[in-house]
Amino acid sequence: MKRDEQIRLLKHLLHQLDTGTNLDAGVMLRAPSSVYSCPERASQERERFFLDYPQMIGMSGDLPENGSFLTREDWGVKILATRDQDGNFRAFLNACRHRGVSIEGEERGKRTRFMCPFHAWTYASDGKLVNVPKSGHFGDVDKDCRGLIELPAVEKYGVLLVHPKRDGTINPEVVLEGLGPDFESWGFPDYVYGGSDVYEVPLNWKLAIDTFGETYHFSALHRNTLYPVFHGNVQGFDHWERNHRMILCTREIDTLREHPESEWRLRGPGFPVYWLFPNVMFNVGAQLVSIVRVYPHPTEVGRSISQVSFYLDPAVAGSVEGRALPTEIARRFGDVIRDEDYVAAADSQRAADSGLQDAFIFGRNEPTLHHYHNTYNKMLGLPPLEPIEG
Ligand code: FES
Ligand SMILES: [Fe+2]
Repeated sequence: MKRDEQIRLLKHLLHQLDTGTNLDAGVMLRAPSSVYSCPERASQERERFFLDYPQMIGMSGDLPENGSFLTREDWGVKILATRDQDGNFRAFLNACRHRGVSIEGEERGKRTRFMCPFHAWTYASDGKLVNVPKSGHFGDVDKDCRGLIELPAVEKYGVLLVHPKRDGTINPEVVLEGLGPDFESWGFPDYVYGGSDVYEVPLNWKLAIDTFGETYHFSALHRNTLYPVFHGNVQGFDHWERNHRMILCTREIDTLREHPESEWRLRGPGFPVYWLFPNVMFNVGAQLVSIVRVYPHPTEVGRSISQVSFYLDPAVAGSVEGRALPTEIARRFGDVIRDEDYVAAADSQRAADSGLQDAFIFGRNEPTLHHYHNTYNKMLGLPPLEPIEG
């Protein structure tokens, strides 16, 4: 990010601190609680957002070398992603063309050949079928036509995108609109995978996303965890059509005025958080980015799975401290996101499920939540949320 933009964002936070203000959307919005509990709504979201929209499955650092592979099954489809021998990112259905058995069972690693465990048909990292054992007995299989089923895949700005449909298209400038220049300037294409975690929790996937969207709750819910480190109810926000960027404010900002502007850097005093529509949060710390991909549970509306992954700045990835960082951040992330945010959000889910509370309210100081929900509605062809008076 350009220096003058970093300074502009920091000055905006300082102005809010000086004047005791926060973002102001000008209106409060009413969100029907059924958006978190209605099976029909959940099915529309699954179809539109998860089965017919490009999915972010990881970062370039998940496939660090030619021959690296990664498996995913987040939206109910078995995916095998590879970096082929020419360095290209490829994505396939993780299914043998013989009888559909997964040809790779590990989550990540490096292989030049994938051998199906059932009858040992073997594939290369570019998806080609390279061996059919005892083909004289089995029959004459045309290897050129029986490679792995390939899905559209694009690697851009350090992000790995896969379209769930074979004939889908991915325009990375549309999917990553607004985020690409920042991701590139932070060096995401070179970030190094550091570890992962998974939280399966009793809350709708959108309630999980909502918890990332405001700092109004820091002084209450996180008073003993995040609040000593972050200012609450102070935040930057820029949005594009589908994605947005928040800038949270750490207490390191209090020391900024002791230094000339020429020494100011956004990351540290500011903490960028990016939302990639529909379900990915990028939390950008000074040396490590924590990425949360949130998925609806396949059958329960009020349940979701958060896939959390950590990626290190290559400048620290090789050091002893750097290597220890993902474990430490994973512990802290669990203490805050899983044990505080998601516990509160699961409580909201029970209110939504009761059928007695018809709506939740998103405040003037929560424009990020306005943007999440109005974007979901727009993409489903629904009207925006209604403003309320009081
Ligand atoms: S199912 Fe893969 S070799 Fe038979
Ligand atoms: Fe939180």
